[in-house]
Amino acid sequence: MTEHWWQAAVIYQIYPRSFQDTNADGIGDLAGIERRLDYLAGLGVDAIWISPIYPSPMADFGYDVADYCGIDPRFGTLADFDRLLGAAHARGLKVLLDLVPNHTSDRHPWFVESRASRDSPKRNWYLWRDPAPGGGPPNNWISDFAGPAWEWDEPTGQYYYHAFLREQPDLNWRNPAVRAAMYDVLRFWFDRGVDGFRIDVLWHMIKAADFPDNPPNPAYQPAMADMYRVIQQYSADQPEVHEIAAEMRAIADSYGTEGRGERVLIGEIYLPVERLMHYYGRERAGVHLPFNFQLIEAPWRARALAWLIAEYETALPAGGWPNWVLGNHDRPRIASRCGQAQARVAAMLLLTLRGTPTLYYGDELGLGDVEITATDVQDPRELREPGLGFGRDPVRTPMPWDDSPNAGFSAARPWLPLNPDWRSRNVAAMAADPQSILALHRRLLAVRRAHPALSVGDFVLLDAEVDVLAYERRRGVERLIVALNLGGRPQRLELPRWAGGYRPLLSTAADPARIADGAVALAADEGVILAAG
Ligand code: NOJ
Ligand code: CA
Repeated sequence: MTEHWWQAAVIYQIYPRSFQDTNADGIGDLAGIERRLDYLAGLGVDAIWISPIYPSPMADFGYDVADYCGIDPRFGTLADFDRLLGAAHARGLKVLLDLVPNHTSDRHPWFVESRASRDSPKRNWYLWRDPAPGGGPPNNWISDFAGPAWEWDEPTGQYYYHAFLREQPDLNWRNPAVRAAMYDVLRFWFDRGVDGFRIDVLWHMIKAADFPDNPPNPAYQPAMADMYRVIQQYSADQPEVHEIAAEMRAIADSYGTEGRGERVLIGEIYLPVERLMHYYGRERAGVHLPFNFQLIEAPWRARALAWLIAEYETALPAGGWPNWVLGNHDRPRIASRCGQAQARVAAMLLLTLRGTPTLYYGDELGLGDVEITATDVQDPRELREPGLGFGRDPVRTPMPWDDSPNAGFSAARPWLPLNPDWRSRNVAAMAADPQSILALHRRLLAVRRAHPALSVGDFVLLDAEVDVLAYERRRGVERLIVALNLGGRPQRLELPRWAGGYRPLLSTAADPARIADGAVALAADEGVILAAG
């Protein structure tokens, strides 16, 4: 049908600490994911991406890796992982891991050795610099988690660079030995049968060789995160980063470039569209899917969405496959950004745009951001810049499975509080309600699977007026129309005049839109998929 499995696939992101606990420590684990595979297969997704599960001091909840080829005991063992992988594959589900190559934990043996002395054979595996001529940090670079990005190491009299926490020193990707070591990590997991990787902060991996100061950001205001005081002109998105993407791609491709065995690479990149496109590669192929986060930041208005979809589709390079993301473990949840009614419309948008969608766990339940009291805060991001709203705990709360104690997530107190409405907003309750947002997701995923025009067909914008966003998806003779009412008032949309008329395939509303006189009447907050003929 399509050339590559990952083009028609829907990816589901699992934050493993919060999915399912099986050993009563309040933290989700691999056995828990395995236990819930039937739920995922039944939901109708094709692949899971699991946020980091490697041994880690958990300063940044797994994004500080102390051993790239192991499993943190909190999550299980390598044997548990192999069993999960086998069980997922047996259900036709692909498994993607999270690769964190930009930085390690400060407890990783590589860093421990690097830090031991200036003559350490691993000194040059990280970014060590002398103080600035007048003393102090080598330049003005700021950590994404606030404060100077340089940490003073008294015993060896140098600073090391960390784009995130001081417990996450950045690797020196200009060093071929670092590259070789990390490429062995890719092979280690590919050899075990892993279907691909989401690559953490790919655009950060190479810094300008001579570490010049970043320019000040004229748009900075005190309400913004500290990192926005400068523009990351020299600390990220350097031209040489594309070499790394190409080298990783070559490794993935060495495992096959077509069929079910193909391995996929997804790059985490927060950049404007025209910069993002470079990550598909130019002379040499880059990652298969540079994450497209535009919907995460978009104002929820028809014209704005139409504009960003058009901008993105137009910018795609030849052969570049689109992808869409509504939420992840770092950003506010869609239900909190646009409300429960629009979360249903957003689901229809995500699952009917051209390209590969990524669905964040819990969004299929309409889970909202959960308020976290000061004593419950876990996220180092929040602890470093408290009260500004950058904390990520609210979007990482446990998956509510049923109305048993702790929502069936754990026999013990969960590491983060549950959503306050968990007694009704849980998988069991919503599975039993045909009007629930969970049931809607199941229907959307089934319709998408049955109508490849929705995943891989051409995209044609029809209308973006007032509150209605409408587009056509076309593949061969099949033509589908998606009409989304982004507002709280009924709307009418004139339909293109094709022979044979239209029939509704799916609506987000209980009482579906009516088609009459060549137009469709959309209820408030209603999205609808229509088939022509
Ligand atoms: C991006 C990840 O998504 C985020 O959760 C993490 O804190 C940073 N990278 C650092 O690894
Ligand atoms: Ca556990």
